[in-house]
Amino acid sequence: PTGDRYNVSRLPFSEVTAQDLNYFEQVVPGRVVTDKEVLKSHNIDWLRTVRGNGKVLLKPRNTKEVSEILRYCNGRNLAVTPQGGNTGLVGGSVPVFDEIIISTALMDQVISFDNVSGALVCQAGCILELLNQYLERQGYTMPLDLGAKGSCHIGGNLATNAGGLRLLRYGSLRGSVLGLEAVLPDGSILNCLNSLRKDNTGYDLKQLFIGSEGTLGLISAVSILCPRKPNSVNVALLGCESFSRVLQVFTMCRDHLGEILSACEFFDAACMKVVKKHLKLSNPLPANNFYVLIETSGSSAYHDEEKLNNFLSKALDTSLITSGTVATDQSKIMSLWALRERITEALAHDGYVYKYDLSMPVEKLYELVEETRIRLGTAAKTVVGYGHLGDGNLHLNVTAESHSDTLMTALEPFVYEWTAMHKGSISAEHGLGFKKKDHIHYSKSREAVNLMQKIKRMLDPKGIMNPYKTIPSSE
Ligand code: FAD
Ligand code: MLT
Ligand code: ZN
Repeated sequence: PTGDRYNVSRLPFSEVTAQDLNYFEQVVPGRVVTDKEVLKSHNIDWLRTVRGNGKVLLKPRNTKEVSEILRYCNGRNLAVTPQGGNTGLVGGSVPVFDEIIISTALMDQVISFDNVSGALVCQAGCILELLNQYLERQGYTMPLDLGAKGSCHIGGNLATNAGGLRLLRYGSLRGSVLGLEAVLPDGSILNCLNSLRKDNTGYDLKQLFIGSEGTLGLISAVSILCPRKPNSVNVALLGCESFSRVLQVFTMCRDHLGEILSACEFFDAACMKVVKKHLKLSNPLPANNFYVLIETSGSSAYHDEEKLNNFLSKALDTSLITSGTVATDQSKIMSLWALRERITEALAHDGYVYKYDLSMPVEKLYELVEETRIRLGTAAKTVVGYGHLGDGNLHLNVTAESHSDTLMTALEPFVYEWTAMHKGSISAEHGLGFKKKDHIHYSKSREAVNLMQKIKRMLDPKGIMNPYKTIPSSE
Protein backbone atom coordinates (compact mmCIF):
# COMPACT_ATOMS: atom_id res chain seq x y z
CA PRO A 1 0.00 0.00 0.00
CA THR A 2 2.84 2.43 0.83
CA GLY A 3 4.37 1.82 -2.58
CA ASP A 4 1.08 2.87 -4.22
CA ARG A 5 0.61 6.14 -2.33
CA TYR A 6 4.17 7.20 -2.88
CA ASN A 7 4.39 5.95 -6.43
CA VAL A 8 7.43 3.68 -5.99
CA SER A 9 8.07 0.47 -7.87
CA ARG A 10 9.69 -2.62 -6.44
CA LEU A 11 13.27 -3.03 -7.62
CA PRO A 12 14.23 -6.42 -9.11
CA PHE A 13 15.37 -8.09 -5.88
CA SER A 14 14.82 -11.81 -5.38
CA GLU A 15 11.90 -13.11 -3.37
CA VAL A 16 12.42 -15.25 -0.28
CA THR A 17 12.11 -18.99 -1.00
CA ALA A 18 11.70 -22.03 1.26
CA GLN A 19 15.39 -22.72 0.70
CA ASP A 20 16.29 -19.26 1.97
CA LEU A 21 14.19 -19.84 5.09
CA ASN A 22 16.03 -23.12 5.68
CA TYR A 23 19.34 -21.31 5.49
CA PHE A 24 18.21 -18.58 7.90
CA GLU A 25 16.95 -21.25 10.29
CA GLN A 26 20.47 -22.66 10.44
CA VAL A 27 22.02 -19.26 11.13
CA VAL A 28 19.47 -18.03 13.70
CA PRO A 29 17.69 -21.19 14.89
CA GLY A 30 14.20 -20.51 16.26
CA ARG A 31 14.59 -16.82 15.47
CA VAL A 32 13.16 -16.72 11.95
CA VAL A 33 9.71 -15.14 12.22
CA THR A 34 7.16 -15.65 9.44
CA ASP A 35 3.97 -15.45 11.51
CA LYS A 36 1.79 -12.78 9.85
CA GLU A 37 0.34 -11.53 13.14
CA VAL A 38 3.80 -11.02 14.68
CA LEU A 39 5.04 -9.36 11.50
CA LYS A 40 2.26 -6.78 11.48
CA SER A 41 3.80 -4.42 14.04
CA HIS A 42 7.20 -4.69 12.33
CA ASN A 43 5.70 -3.70 8.98
CA ILE A 44 4.08 -0.48 10.18
CA ASP A 45 5.87 2.60 11.48
CA TRP A 46 5.28 4.30 14.81
CA LEU A 47 3.17 7.03 13.21
CA ARG A 48 1.12 4.39 11.36
CA THR A 49 1.64 6.24 8.11
CA VAL A 50 3.69 3.75 6.09
CA ARG A 51 3.18 0.03 5.79
CA GLY A 52 5.41 -2.61 4.25
CA ASN A 53 4.89 -6.22 3.32
CA GLY A 54 7.93 -7.92 4.85
CA LYS A 55 7.35 -11.64 5.13
CA VAL A 56 10.39 -12.56 7.19
CA LEU A 57 11.89 -11.12 10.36
CA LEU A 58 15.30 -12.32 11.54
CA LYS A 59 16.53 -11.87 15.09
CA PRO A 60 20.30 -12.31 15.29
CA ARG A 61 22.00 -12.29 18.70
CA ASN A 62 25.48 -11.29 17.65
CA THR A 63 27.63 -9.71 14.96
CA LYS A 64 28.65 -13.04 13.45
CA GLU A 65 25.02 -13.96 12.81
CA VAL A 66 24.35 -10.55 11.22
CA SER A 67 27.38 -11.06 9.03
CA GLU A 68 26.20 -14.48 7.85
CA ILE A 69 22.72 -13.12 7.11
CA LEU A 70 24.01 -10.18 5.09
CA ARG A 71 26.58 -12.22 3.18
CA TYR A 72 23.83 -14.63 2.16
CA CYS A 73 21.29 -11.90 1.28
CA ASN A 74 23.87 -10.09 -0.83
CA GLY A 75 24.69 -13.28 -2.69
CA ARG A 76 21.00 -14.02 -3.28
CA ASN A 77 20.10 -10.40 -4.09
CA LEU A 78 17.60 -10.20 -1.22
CA ALA A 79 16.85 -6.72 0.11
CA VAL A 80 16.89 -6.05 3.88
CA THR A 81 15.71 -3.41 6.35
CA PRO A 82 17.53 -3.04 9.67
CA GLN A 83 15.09 -2.36 12.49
CA GLY A 84 15.73 -1.20 16.05
CA GLY A 85 12.85 -0.04 18.24
CA ASN A 86 10.81 1.02 15.18
CA THR A 87 10.24 4.49 16.61
CA GLY A 88 11.66 6.36 13.60
CA LEU A 89 9.46 9.15 12.28
CA VAL A 90 10.32 9.19 8.57
CA GLY A 91 9.30 5.70 7.52
CA GLY A 92 12.86 4.36 7.36
CA SER A 93 12.49 1.42 9.73
CA VAL A 94 9.87 -0.64 7.93
CA PRO A 95 10.04 -2.40 4.55
CA VAL A 96 8.48 -0.66 1.58
CA PHE A 97 7.78 -3.97 -0.19
CA ASP A 98 8.96 -7.40 1.00
CA GLU A 99 12.43 -6.53 2.35
CA ILE A 100 13.67 -8.91 5.05
CA ILE A 101 13.55 -7.23 8.45
CA ILE A 102 16.69 -7.69 10.54
CA SER A 103 15.81 -6.76 14.10
CA THR A 104 18.43 -5.88 16.72
CA ALA A 105 16.01 -6.72 19.56
CA LEU A 106 18.13 -9.63 20.83
CA MET A 107 21.44 -7.80 20.52
CA ASP A 108 20.97 -6.20 23.89
CA GLN A 109 24.12 -6.83 25.90
CA VAL A 110 26.44 -4.31 27.51
CA ILE A 111 29.98 -5.34 26.53
CA SER A 112 31.96 -3.13 28.89
CA PHE A 113 31.84 0.07 30.89
CA ASP A 114 34.90 1.97 32.02
CA ASN A 115 33.96 3.90 35.11
CA VAL A 116 37.01 6.12 34.93
CA SER A 117 36.65 7.35 31.35
CA GLY A 118 32.87 6.87 31.07
CA ALA A 119 33.21 4.84 27.85
CA LEU A 120 30.30 2.43 27.38
CA VAL A 121 30.56 -0.35 24.80
CA CYS A 122 27.38 -2.26 24.00
CA GLN A 123 25.48 -4.13 21.34
CA ALA A 124 23.27 -2.08 19.02
CA GLY A 125 19.96 -3.41 20.33
CA CYS A 126 20.29 -2.04 23.88
CA ILE A 127 17.27 0.10 24.74
CA LEU A 128 18.24 3.70 25.48
CA GLU A 129 16.35 3.92 28.79
CA LEU A 130 17.84 0.66 30.07
CA LEU A 131 21.33 1.89 29.22
CA ASN A 132 20.59 5.07 31.11
CA GLN A 133 19.41 3.12 34.16
CA TYR A 134 22.50 0.92 34.00
CA LEU A 135 24.73 4.00 33.94
CA GLU A 136 22.89 5.86 36.67
CA ARG A 137 23.61 3.01 39.06
CA GLN A 138 27.29 3.83 38.49
CA GLY A 139 26.99 7.60 38.70
CA TYR A 140 26.90 8.20 34.94
CA THR A 141 24.24 9.08 32.40
CA MET A 142 23.63 8.78 28.64
CA PRO A 143 24.54 11.86 26.60
CA LEU A 144 21.19 11.68 24.80
CA ASP A 145 17.57 11.48 25.85
CA LEU A 146 14.36 11.42 23.84
CA GLY A 147 10.67 10.73 24.26
CA ALA A 148 11.05 7.30 22.64
CA LYS A 149 13.72 6.20 25.17
CA GLY A 150 11.63 3.28 26.44
CA SER A 151 11.64 1.58 23.01
CA CYS A 152 14.40 2.98 20.79
CA HIS A 153 17.70 1.12 20.46
CA ILE A 154 21.10 2.76 20.67
CA GLY A 155 21.90 1.37 17.19
CA GLY A 156 18.76 3.09 15.86
CA ASN A 157 19.79 6.28 17.61
CA LEU A 158 23.15 6.22 15.85
CA ALA A 159 21.62 5.20 12.53
CA THR A 160 19.33 8.27 12.67
CA ASN A 161 21.88 10.49 14.46
CA ALA A 162 19.09 11.29 16.91
CA GLY A 163 19.25 14.71 18.57
CA GLY A 164 16.74 14.94 21.38
CA LEU A 165 16.48 16.74 24.66
CA ARG A 166 20.09 16.83 25.87
CA LEU A 167 21.85 17.97 22.70
CA LEU A 168 22.17 21.51 24.03
CA ARG A 169 24.35 20.21 26.85
CA TYR A 170 26.22 17.21 25.44
CA GLY A 171 26.25 17.99 21.73
CA SER A 172 25.45 15.73 18.81
CA LEU A 173 26.07 11.97 18.82
CA ARG A 174 28.77 12.69 16.26
CA GLY A 175 30.85 13.99 19.15
CA SER A 176 29.86 11.45 21.82
CA VAL A 177 30.28 8.29 19.76
CA LEU A 178 33.84 7.04 20.17
CA GLY A 179 33.56 4.05 17.89
CA LEU A 180 31.27 1.56 16.28
CA GLU A 181 31.17 -1.80 14.59
CA ALA A 182 29.16 -2.23 11.42
CA VAL A 183 28.39 -5.19 9.21
CA LEU A 184 28.65 -4.20 5.56
CA PRO A 185 26.19 -5.43 2.92
CA ASP A 186 28.62 -8.14 1.75
CA GLY A 187 28.86 -9.50 5.29
CA SER A 188 32.29 -8.14 6.11
CA ILE A 189 32.70 -6.69 9.59
CA LEU A 190 34.08 -3.19 9.94
CA ASN A 191 35.54 -2.94 13.42
CA CYS A 192 35.98 0.72 14.43
CA LEU A 193 34.91 -0.02 17.98
CA ASN A 194 37.62 1.79 19.88
CA SER A 195 37.10 3.90 22.97
CA LEU A 196 39.71 6.60 22.41
CA ARG A 197 38.96 10.26 22.91
CA LYS A 198 41.48 11.20 20.27
CA ASP A 199 42.27 9.32 17.08
CA ASN A 200 43.24 11.15 13.92
CA THR A 201 44.42 8.20 11.88
CA GLY A 202 42.85 8.63 8.46
CA TYR A 203 39.21 9.19 7.60
CA ASP A 204 36.71 8.98 10.45
CA LEU A 205 34.68 6.10 9.01
CA LYS A 206 32.27 5.81 11.91
CA GLN A 207 30.78 9.16 10.91
CA LEU A 208 29.64 7.64 7.63
CA PHE A 209 27.40 5.21 9.49
CA ILE A 210 26.06 7.73 12.00
CA GLY A 211 22.93 9.11 10.35
CA SER A 212 23.05 6.68 7.41
CA GLU A 213 19.68 5.16 8.33
CA GLY A 214 20.60 1.58 7.59
CA THR A 215 21.53 2.25 3.96
CA LEU A 216 25.27 1.48 4.21
CA GLY A 217 25.47 -1.33 6.73
CA LEU A 218 24.03 -2.61 9.98
CA ILE A 219 25.53 -1.03 13.09
CA SER A 220 26.14 -4.00 15.40
CA ALA A 221 27.94 -2.41 18.37
CA VAL A 222 28.61 1.03 19.73
CA SER A 223 31.18 2.75 21.93
CA ILE A 224 29.90 5.96 23.46
CA LEU A 225 31.33 8.48 25.90
CA CYS A 226 29.01 9.05 28.84
CA PRO A 227 29.09 12.04 31.17
CA ARG A 228 28.79 11.92 34.98
CA LYS A 229 25.22 12.04 36.22
CA PRO A 230 24.61 15.59 37.45
CA ASN A 231 24.07 15.89 41.23
CA SER A 232 21.47 18.55 40.98
CA VAL A 233 18.71 18.89 38.39
CA ASN A 234 16.03 21.60 38.31
CA VAL A 235 13.29 22.10 35.79
CA ALA A 236 11.24 25.25 35.25
CA LEU A 237 8.15 25.64 33.12
CA LEU A 238 7.52 29.22 32.07
CA GLY A 239 4.60 30.89 30.33
CA CYS A 240 5.17 33.59 27.68
CA GLU A 241 2.78 35.82 25.76
CA SER A 242 4.57 35.91 22.44
CA PHE A 243 7.30 34.12 20.52
CA SER A 244 9.51 37.19 20.63
CA ARG A 245 9.41 36.90 24.43
CA VAL A 246 10.29 33.21 24.11
CA LEU A 247 13.42 34.25 22.24
CA GLN A 248 14.30 36.83 24.86
CA VAL A 249 13.86 34.20 27.59
CA PHE A 250 16.28 31.96 25.69
CA THR A 251 18.89 34.72 25.52
CA MET A 252 18.39 35.61 29.16
CA CYS A 253 18.66 32.03 30.36
CA ARG A 254 21.91 31.52 28.47
CA ASP A 255 23.21 34.69 30.11
CA HIS A 256 22.14 33.79 33.64
CA LEU A 257 22.39 30.02 33.64
CA GLY A 258 25.34 29.60 31.30
CA GLU A 259 27.19 26.44 32.22
CA ILE A 260 24.30 24.81 34.11
CA LEU A 261 21.67 25.17 31.37
CA SER A 262 21.02 21.63 30.06
CA ALA A 263 17.82 21.96 28.04
CA CYS A 264 15.73 24.74 26.57
CA GLU A 265 12.55 23.57 24.86
CA PHE A 266 9.43 25.39 23.74
CA PHE A 267 5.86 24.54 22.78
CA ASP A 268 2.77 26.51 21.92
CA ALA A 269 -0.76 26.65 23.37
CA ALA A 270 -2.02 24.20 20.72
CA CYS A 271 0.44 21.58 22.06
CA MET A 272 -0.75 22.16 25.60
CA LYS A 273 -4.28 21.64 24.36
CA VAL A 274 -3.53 18.23 22.80
CA VAL A 275 -1.60 16.85 25.78
CA LYS A 276 -4.47 17.91 28.05
CA LYS A 277 -7.12 16.51 25.75
CA HIS A 278 -5.59 13.19 24.74
CA LEU A 279 -3.29 12.33 27.65
CA LYS A 280 -5.18 14.08 30.45
CA LEU A 281 -2.06 15.90 31.62
CA SER A 282 -2.65 19.07 33.57
CA ASN A 283 -1.14 22.47 33.03
CA PRO A 284 0.38 23.76 36.27
CA LEU A 285 0.34 27.34 34.92
CA PRO A 286 -2.42 29.72 33.88
CA ALA A 287 -3.09 29.47 30.13
CA ASN A 288 -0.38 31.09 27.98
CA ASN A 289 0.35 31.39 24.27
CA PHE A 290 3.79 29.77 24.65
CA TYR A 291 5.61 27.63 27.17
CA VAL A 292 9.36 27.33 27.70
CA LEU A 293 10.83 24.40 29.58
CA ILE A 294 14.26 24.99 31.04
CA GLU A 295 16.40 22.37 32.71
CA THR A 296 19.54 23.05 34.71
CA SER A 297 22.02 20.32 35.63
CA GLY A 298 25.00 20.96 37.81
CA SER A 299 27.10 19.78 40.70
CA SER A 300 25.78 21.99 43.51
CA ALA A 301 22.06 22.16 44.33
CA TYR A 302 22.40 25.34 46.37
CA HIS A 303 24.35 27.14 43.68
CA ASP A 304 22.04 26.00 40.87
CA GLU A 305 18.82 26.91 42.68
CA GLU A 306 20.15 30.34 43.51
CA LYS A 307 21.02 30.97 39.89
CA LEU A 308 17.67 29.71 38.66
CA ASN A 309 15.75 31.82 41.16
CA ASN A 310 17.68 34.95 40.18
CA PHE A 311 16.92 34.26 36.55
CA LEU A 312 13.22 33.71 37.26
CA SER A 313 12.76 36.88 39.26
CA LYS A 314 14.47 38.91 36.55
CA ALA A 315 12.30 37.28 33.85
CA LEU A 316 9.14 38.04 35.86
CA ASP A 317 10.22 41.61 36.75
CA THR A 318 10.86 42.42 33.09
CA SER A 319 7.57 40.74 32.07
CA LEU A 320 9.35 38.32 29.75
CA ILE A 321 7.34 35.59 31.41
CA THR A 322 3.85 35.84 32.82
CA SER A 323 4.11 32.84 35.13
CA GLY A 324 6.45 30.02 36.07
CA THR A 325 6.86 26.94 38.23
CA VAL A 326 10.03 25.18 39.36
CA ALA A 327 10.56 21.51 40.16
CA THR A 328 13.45 20.08 42.13
CA ASP A 329 12.01 16.71 43.15
CA GLN A 330 12.02 13.83 40.68
CA SER A 331 8.27 13.30 40.36
CA LYS A 332 7.48 16.95 39.64
CA ILE A 333 10.45 17.14 37.26
CA MET A 334 8.99 14.19 35.37
CA SER A 335 5.51 15.67 35.24
CA LEU A 336 6.82 18.95 33.80
CA TRP A 337 8.95 17.07 31.26
CA ALA A 338 5.91 14.94 30.28
CA LEU A 339 4.13 18.06 29.02
CA ARG A 340 6.88 18.53 26.45
CA GLU A 341 8.06 14.96 25.81
CA ARG A 342 4.62 13.49 25.24
CA ILE A 343 3.45 15.98 22.59
CA THR A 344 4.39 13.47 19.87
CA GLU A 345 2.19 10.82 21.47
CA ALA A 346 -0.72 13.24 22.00
CA LEU A 347 -0.59 14.29 18.33
CA ALA A 348 -0.73 10.66 17.25
CA HIS A 349 -4.05 10.43 19.12
CA ASP A 350 -5.28 13.59 17.41
CA GLY A 351 -5.37 12.10 13.91
CA TYR A 352 -3.18 11.58 10.86
CA VAL A 353 0.06 13.50 11.54
CA TYR A 354 2.01 15.47 8.92
CA LYS A 355 5.35 15.85 10.69
CA TYR A 356 8.09 18.34 9.83
CA ASP A 357 11.43 18.54 11.59
CA LEU A 358 13.22 21.70 10.52
CA SER A 359 16.19 23.73 11.61
CA MET A 360 16.58 27.39 10.77
CA PRO A 361 17.66 30.65 12.37
CA VAL A 362 15.95 30.65 15.74
CA GLU A 363 14.18 33.98 15.21
CA LYS A 364 12.36 32.51 12.19
CA LEU A 365 11.11 29.36 13.96
CA TYR A 366 7.56 30.35 14.73
CA GLU A 367 6.85 32.45 11.63
CA LEU A 368 6.47 29.26 9.62
CA VAL A 369 3.92 27.85 12.07
CA GLU A 370 1.84 31.01 11.82
CA GLU A 371 2.01 31.08 8.02
CA THR A 372 1.08 27.41 7.81
CA ARG A 373 -1.90 27.94 10.09
CA ILE A 374 -3.21 30.73 7.86
CA ARG A 375 -2.48 28.80 4.70
CA LEU A 376 -4.35 25.66 5.78
CA GLY A 377 -7.28 27.35 7.50
CA THR A 378 -9.99 24.87 8.41
CA ALA A 379 -8.50 22.10 6.24
CA ALA A 380 -6.30 21.11 9.19
CA LYS A 381 -7.53 19.88 12.54
CA THR A 382 -4.53 21.13 14.54
CA VAL A 383 -1.35 23.01 13.59
CA VAL A 384 1.28 23.02 16.32
CA GLY A 385 4.83 24.24 16.83
CA TYR A 386 7.26 22.87 19.41
CA GLY A 387 10.86 21.90 19.54
CA HIS A 388 14.38 22.26 20.70
CA LEU A 389 14.66 26.03 20.97
CA GLY A 390 18.26 25.85 22.09
CA ASP A 391 19.17 23.98 18.89
CA GLY A 392 17.12 26.10 16.45
CA ASN A 393 14.98 23.02 15.75
CA LEU A 394 11.27 23.41 15.04
CA HIS A 395 8.76 20.57 14.95
CA LEU A 396 5.88 21.81 12.84
CA ASN A 397 3.09 19.24 12.99
CA VAL A 398 -0.30 19.27 11.33
CA THR A 399 -3.07 16.82 12.09
CA ALA A 400 -6.21 15.92 10.15
CA GLU A 401 -8.87 13.23 10.46
CA SER A 402 -7.13 11.22 7.75
CA HIS A 403 -4.52 11.51 5.03
CA SER A 404 -5.58 13.86 2.26
CA ASP A 405 -3.80 14.67 -0.97
CA THR A 406 -5.20 18.21 -0.87
CA LEU A 407 -3.63 18.93 2.50
CA MET A 408 -0.39 17.33 1.38
CA THR A 409 -0.29 19.55 -1.69
CA ALA A 410 -0.89 22.61 0.48
CA LEU A 411 2.01 21.61 2.77
CA GLU A 412 4.58 20.41 0.28
CA PRO A 413 6.63 21.88 -1.29
CA PHE A 414 5.56 25.04 0.65
CA VAL A 415 7.19 23.97 3.94
CA TYR A 416 10.40 22.85 2.22
CA GLU A 417 10.67 25.93 0.04
CA TRP A 418 10.11 28.21 3.02
CA THR A 419 12.80 26.36 4.97
CA ALA A 420 15.30 26.43 2.10
CA MET A 421 14.62 30.14 1.57
CA HIS A 422 15.72 30.74 5.16
CA LYS A 423 18.78 28.53 4.69
CA GLY A 424 17.40 25.89 7.00
CA SER A 425 17.50 22.09 6.93
CA ILE A 426 14.43 20.08 5.94
CA SER A 427 15.44 17.36 8.38
CA ALA A 428 17.15 18.56 11.52
CA GLU A 429 17.22 15.32 13.52
CA HIS A 430 14.81 12.66 12.23
CA GLY A 431 16.57 11.81 8.97
CA LEU A 432 15.10 11.38 5.49
CA GLY A 433 14.04 7.74 5.58
CA PHE A 434 11.38 6.82 3.05
CA LYS A 435 9.19 9.88 3.26
CA LYS A 436 11.72 12.64 2.73
CA LYS A 437 14.50 11.25 0.58
CA ASP A 438 13.34 13.02 -2.57
CA HIS A 439 13.47 16.38 -0.78
CA ILE A 440 17.18 16.14 0.00
CA HIS A 441 17.90 18.75 -2.69
CA TYR A 442 16.34 21.49 -0.57
CA SER A 443 19.22 21.07 1.87
CA LYS A 444 22.11 19.52 -0.06
CA SER A 445 23.85 20.51 -3.28
CA ARG A 446 23.79 18.31 -6.37
CA GLU A 447 27.50 17.59 -5.91
CA ALA A 448 26.91 16.46 -2.34
CA VAL A 449 24.05 14.17 -3.35
CA ASN A 450 26.16 12.75 -6.22
CA LEU A 451 28.96 11.90 -3.83
CA MET A 452 26.49 10.25 -1.44
CA GLN A 453 25.20 8.12 -4.31
CA LYS A 454 28.75 7.11 -5.21
CA ILE A 455 29.50 6.12 -1.62
CA LYS A 456 26.28 4.12 -1.49
CA ARG A 457 27.19 2.29 -4.73
CA MET A 458 30.68 1.57 -3.48
CA LEU A 459 29.59 0.06 -0.17
CA ASP A 460 26.40 -1.55 -1.42
CA PRO A 461 26.75 -2.23 -5.16
CA LYS A 462 23.58 -4.34 -5.28
CA GLY A 463 21.61 -1.79 -3.25
CA ILE A 464 20.22 -4.39 -0.82
CA MET A 465 20.55 -2.25 2.34
CA ASN A 466 17.30 -0.48 3.13
CA PRO A 467 16.38 0.34 -0.49
CA TYR A 468 14.03 3.25 -1.35
CA LYS A 469 15.37 5.21 1.66
CA THR A 470 17.49 8.29 2.42
CA ILE A 471 19.38 8.86 -0.85
CA PRO A 472 17.45 9.35 -4.10
CA SER A 473 18.38 6.63 -6.56
CA SER A 474 20.81 7.83 -9.21
CA GLU A 475 19.25 8.27 -12.63
P1 FAD B 1 14.21 2.47 14.12
O1 FAD B 1 13.01 3.32 14.09
O2 FAD B 1 14.00 1.01 14.24
O3 FAD B 1 15.07 2.75 12.79
C1 FAD B 1 15.34 4.05 12.37
C2 FAD B 1 16.26 4.00 11.14
O4 FAD B 1 17.53 3.47 11.49
C3 FAD B 1 15.76 3.09 10.04
O5 FAD B 1 16.15 3.61 8.80
C4 FAD B 1 16.47 1.77 10.29
O6 FAD B 1 16.62 1.00 9.12
C5 FAD B 1 17.80 2.24 10.83
N1 FAD B 1 18.41 1.36 11.83
C6 FAD B 1 17.90 0.97 13.02
N2 FAD B 1 18.79 0.24 13.70
C7 FAD B 1 19.89 0.14 12.92
C8 FAD B 1 21.16 -0.48 13.05
N3 FAD B 1 21.50 -1.16 14.14
N4 FAD B 1 22.05 -0.34 12.04
C9 FAD B 1 21.74 0.37 10.93
N5 FAD B 1 20.56 0.97 10.75
C10 FAD B 1 19.65 0.86 11.72
N6 FAD B 1 14.39 11.74 17.27
C11 FAD B 1 15.21 12.74 17.60
O7 FAD B 1 16.20 12.96 16.92
N7 FAD B 1 14.96 13.51 18.69
C12 FAD B 1 13.89 13.33 19.48
O8 FAD B 1 13.67 14.07 20.44
C13 FAD B 1 13.01 12.25 19.16
N8 FAD B 1 11.94 12.01 19.93
C14 FAD B 1 11.08 11.02 19.59
C15 FAD B 1 9.97 10.82 20.39
C16 FAD B 1 9.05 9.84 20.06
C17 FAD B 1 7.83 9.63 20.94
C18 FAD B 1 9.25 9.04 18.91
C19 FAD B 1 8.27 7.97 18.54
C20 FAD B 1 10.38 9.23 18.11
C21 FAD B 1 11.30 10.22 18.43
N9 FAD B 1 12.44 10.47 17.65
C22 FAD B 1 13.29 11.48 18.01
C23 FAD B 1 12.71 9.73 16.39
C24 FAD B 1 14.03 8.93 16.44
O9 FAD B 1 14.61 8.79 15.15
C25 FAD B 1 13.92 7.61 17.03
O10 FAD B 1 13.15 7.60 18.20
C26 FAD B 1 15.22 6.82 17.32
O11 FAD B 1 16.45 7.46 17.14
C27 FAD B 1 15.18 5.63 16.41
O12 FAD B 1 15.64 4.51 17.08
P2 FAD B 1 14.98 3.09 16.80
O13 FAD B 1 15.81 2.08 17.49
O14 FAD B 1 13.54 3.10 17.11
O15 FAD B 1 15.22 2.97 15.22
C1 MLT C 1 10.46 15.65 19.81
O1 MLT C 1 11.28 16.56 19.90
O2 MLT C 1 9.48 15.56 20.57
C2 MLT C 1 10.72 14.56 18.82
O3 MLT C 1 11.65 14.91 17.86
C3 MLT C 1 9.51 13.92 18.25
C4 MLT C 1 8.67 14.79 17.38
O4 MLT C 1 9.20 15.56 16.58
O5 MLT C 1 7.45 14.71 17.46
ZN1 ZN D 1 12.78 16.58 18.47
